[in-house]
Amino acid sequence: MAQNDIGIDLGTTSVIIHVEGRGVVLSEPTVVAVDTDNGRVLAVGDDAYKMVGRTPAHIMAVRPLKDGVISDHLLTKEIVRRFLIKAYQSPIVKPRVAVCVPAAISGIESDAAVEAVVAAGARQVYLIDEPIAAALGAGLDITRPQGHLVLDIGGGTSDIAVISMGGKVQSSSIKVAGNALDAAIVRRVREKYHLVIGEKSAEVLKREIACCTPKAGFSASAVIKGRSLDTGLPRRQTVVTEDLYEPVEECVSQLATAVHGVLERTPPELAGDILTEGMLMTGGGALLRGLDLYLSERLKIGVRAADDPINCVALGTGKSLSMADRLESGFRDATPGIGRR
Ligand SMILES: Nc1ncnc2c1ncn2[C@@H]1O[C@H](COP(=O)(O)OP(=O)(O)O)[C@@H](O)[C@H]1O
Ligand SMILES: [Mg+2]
Repeated sequence: MAQNDIGIDLGTTSVIIHVEGRGVVLSEPTVVAVDTDNGRVLAVGDDAYKMVGRTPAHIMAVRPLKDGVISDHLLTKEIVRRFLIKAYQSPIVKPRVAVCVPAAISGIESDAAVEAVVAAGARQVYLIDEPIAAALGAGLDITRPQGHLVLDIGGGTSDIAVISMGGKVQSSSIKVAGNALDAAIVRRVREKYHLVIGEKSAEVLKREIACCTPKAGFSASAVIKGRSLDTGLPRRQTVVTEDLYEPVEECVSQLATAVHGVLERTPPELAGDILTEGMLMTGGGALLRGLDLYLSERLKIGVRAADDPINCVALGTGKSLSMADRLESGFRDATPGIGRR
């Protein structure tokens, strides 16, 4: 990899930028704060995230890639532009940049990201699919004729792919990931404790006390704050791991079903490889407690999380630039003028 190779993981939850030789230089939430009176962008990333759920009427904190779909390409462009400038100041040599976009987004939408990268001074831009980047980041040698199964669980989407010889053989993308877990936890707390909590509180519960299966032998409790449905007043509530099995299971069982579907469509030789190697999980959702155990029981294969699941995609995206000639579908030159689409 060259010193000026940059990998950008444009995730639904966070944007992570990896610069060769320097490692991960930026990791901030994919959030933009906009003044709705004049359309001006007030803040992006960490600063904008602090405003989520706390803005006055004329300010909106928007997640432009929510659920894996770029809903506002102008805001996405602004996020990429600002973050890239922040991560890579005054280049002497223009960088090569690879961008990883969620599988669910369309060509027009990823063009917004490409335009922003070019506007920020890149000399070449590539687009890479998430599972390919995830596998590279985890150190798998995906260029050989051998099957690998990757499950990336982000905020908006979970992407599943069987990879061999640098390309995707089978894949699927579902909108059941971190955000869906948070929403299911919000519903559960509302039903069981008559307490309305925000997404941020639900996410804290998920990270701190949620677990996928009692077989993991984990039990903990946490105190959260919300608004009582009965009195309308703010109130505290203790929530325990056992309260959350149901909403968590509701989501992770859909993940198991989706992976099962991909395995059913996988050619037998590659399925054999996967039986030997097992499944690799990446993305923040891979950190969900007991998920490896739950999925390996359901799918009857080994399941493990990558060492650094959250940064894995950004790392692999950066790495892909030096392997361009050995990557197939799922990695393409998108440089305006010379790119092939
Ligand atoms: N320790 C954890 N346990 C469970 N979920 C987690 C944990 N850490 C992060 N997450 C979840 O991972 C998701 C973000 O993953 P990430 O790979 O950064 O997403 P994206 O690729 O969509 O930007 C969020 O839903 C977040 O709540
Ligand atoms: Mg991601």
